[in-house]
Amino acid sequence: MTMADTEKVASGIPGLDDLIEGGFWPKSTVVILGSSGTGKSTFAIQFLMEGIEQGEQALYVTLEEPPEQIMREADLMGFDMRKYYEKSLFFIHLKGRNFKKMIEEQLPQLVKARADYNIKTRVVIDPMTPVIWATAEKLEQRELIGKLFYTLKELGVVLCTVEEHAKPGETIGEDVLLPIYLSDGAIHLEYYPIGGAFNRTVKLLKMRGVHHGEGVYPYLFARGVGIVVRSSPTKIPEEQSRSHIKTFDEAIKTAEAMKAPARVIERIKRMQKHWDYDYSPEEALQILFSSYGLKRGG
Ligand SMILES: Nc1ncnc2c1ncn2[C@@H]1O[C@H](COP(=O)(O)OP(=O)(O)OP(=O)(O)O)[C@@H](O)[C@H]1O
Ligand SMILES: [Mg+2]
Repeated sequence: MTMADTEKVASGIPGLDDLIEGGFWPKSTVVILGSSGTGKSTFAIQFLMEGIEQGEQALYVTLEEPPEQIMREADLMGFDMRKYYEKSLFFIHLKGRNFKKMIEEQLPQLVKARADYNIKTRVVIDPMTPVIWATAEKLEQRELIGKLFYTLKELGVVLCTVEEHAKPGETIGEDVLLPIYLSDGAIHLEYYPIGGAFNRTVKLLKMRGVHHGEGVYPYLFARGVGIVVRSSPTKIPEEQSRSHIKTFDEAIKTAEAMKAPARVIERIKRMQKHWDYDYSPEEALQILFSSYGLKRGG
């Protein structure tokens, strides 16, 4: 193995890489598990955009929604996927009732053709739930998921989302155990419908070959950036009364002074444009800064 093979793949989720020793292993498979609306697609898009912005390619395997709808929804969350559409971002829409056949025959050919170019690629399967539903046979489910993983991870990290039906705090449903079992890593998103900014939590169920954080970590949404994980207590300056606009302006100035990459500054600007929450963006900004290795004073 060369050094490049063992280099971790940054998740693109501010705060998360601190919990998984820098990121995902190359060519590993990761399941994002959570009930509807917990942010699985947001996570997946963020992961792809992180690669795209660094010159990698992205493959979005979709089974339900057409690419157009995905890009429209991404737009609302502050991600401009269209800019990269069919340049570095590609979709495979496995539709219709014979996607089993597509998984077994067409997909391997497609992937083979791409793998020959040897370009760093990130793959997302969102949602993977229909693959599980395609058959009631456990053995066949296992073969289908196994085949998907085996085929796609030739390209790079494969991240798939699985919808969960259990209520927060309940044990994980039996129907989602199979993808967890078959993947190298599993991340659980939970949403507790009670007030406050941090009523959403992330937990690492498993991460092969990684000493990962064992806790339950709060996360929040920041439009333009996506999910932001609070991996450790962050200090927030006691000046909550000043307006959020000022907070952002200062953050941008600081980032510029620190010679932060243009895309990071762009990201903060996008976050500012969309910030319509009551709470201060300070904590999200702190996490964002440190996730890009930028140390702010104070
Ligand atoms: N920037 C944001 N600010 C606040 N809430 C957000 C933001 N982005 C997403 N959300 C919330 O997350 C919800 C869904 O996000 P997302 O589509 O990523 O979830 P999902 O887990 O993929 O859902 P599904 O299972 O329906 O596919 C939105 O409906 C919204 O409530
Ligand atoms: Mg989704």
